[in-house]
Amino acid sequence: METSLLELLRCPLCHARIDAEDGSLSCSGCGRGFGVEHGIPLMLHEDLPGAREKLGETGGWVEKAQAEGWYEPNDEVDAVLPFVNRALGWNDLGWLANGHSFQVLLDRYVGEQRGMRVLEVGAAKAWAAPYWLERDCEFVATDILVDDKIGLGRGAFYGDFGRVQADGEHLPFPDASFDVVYCLATLHHALDLRQMVREMSRVARSGAIVAGLNEGTRGVGRSPENPDQAAEKEVGINEHVHTVWAYFDAFTRAGLRVRRLERPDGWAPSPYGRMLSKIPKIGLSLGTMVHLSAVHYCGVSIYARKPA
Ligand SMILES: C[S@@+](CC[C@H](N)C(=O)[O-])C[C@H]1O[C@@H](n2cnc3c(N)ncnc32)[C@H](O)[C@@H]1O
Ligand SMILES: [Zn+2]
Repeated sequence: METSLLELLRCPLCHARIDAEDGSLSCSGCGRGFGVEHGIPLMLHEDLPGAREKLGETGGWVEKAQAEGWYEPNDEVDAVLPFVNRALGWNDLGWLANGHSFQVLLDRYVGEQRGMRVLEVGAAKAWAAPYWLERDCEFVATDILVDDKIGLGRGAFYGDFGRVQADGEHLPFPDASFDVVYCLATLHHALDLRQMVREMSRVARSGAIVAGLNEGTRGVGRSPENPDQAAEKEVGINEHVHTVWAYFDAFTRAGLRVRRLERPDGWAPSPYGRMLSKIPKIGLSLGTMVHLSAVHYCGVSIYARKPA
């Protein structure tokens, strides 16, 4: 493991520094030990709240991927993620939304900036790495899933950068250490949504961008049992579907200022919220909130800033 990554690691339980000796890691505060797998520190400790459910979910992802036929890595596909629609002619609405949301993050909130320290929570294979490395950023990819084919282990395909098995609700990093903190389709897996957003905010520096991209929402009054999530739940994946208001609330309670809220595919909030979205500056966010409150199930991307 690189020294710079070790310097950045903290105990997810007591936040003390981590010591490395003979290939294993231990907390200098509480003495808990952590494993390392292929250079990936394993910081999802069994003493963390909900560790059993989260470790159970990792098996669920493997089972789902095998059953759906996307477990074996495909270099041609992985090389162009998330832009498989335009690069390979796919017609996949999920990847369309992932790609659009990620592009907005790069275009509107990163722009010409280089050399930032960037944290992704729930990065899976870490396909975003090349976009950060080409901007000279120090990228750290985290997930609970370390699997070689669909988890952080596959990240080696994308180059050399920090990979850490970590629970987004208990991040193993110091306060105020990243310039960009984001996740994509991951907040809705949190056992405690507010806790995950609070942790993302804690490790963000003043002025940092904190974003939750392509998260599923339900209309106000709609059932939290989204039928589309039933198969995932059956294999132990922790699925939830929150209203857009619950996401907004989690970000504001974490001390973040929401700057933009939009459908993850970039489509207009239509028909509900369309008129509001014409108001300059805040209209799109307002219109999106109305739209997502009224429809059955949809998605949202939230871009926020930690106040300076
Ligand atoms: C729908 S997948 C999205 C993966 C990736 N962001 C992408 O777009 O390809 C959700 C990811 O969240 C991860 N995850 C679930 N709960 C988590 C937690 N508590 N902390 C960190 N990651 C988590 C899962 O292991 C999974 O890789
Ligand atoms: Zn500790």
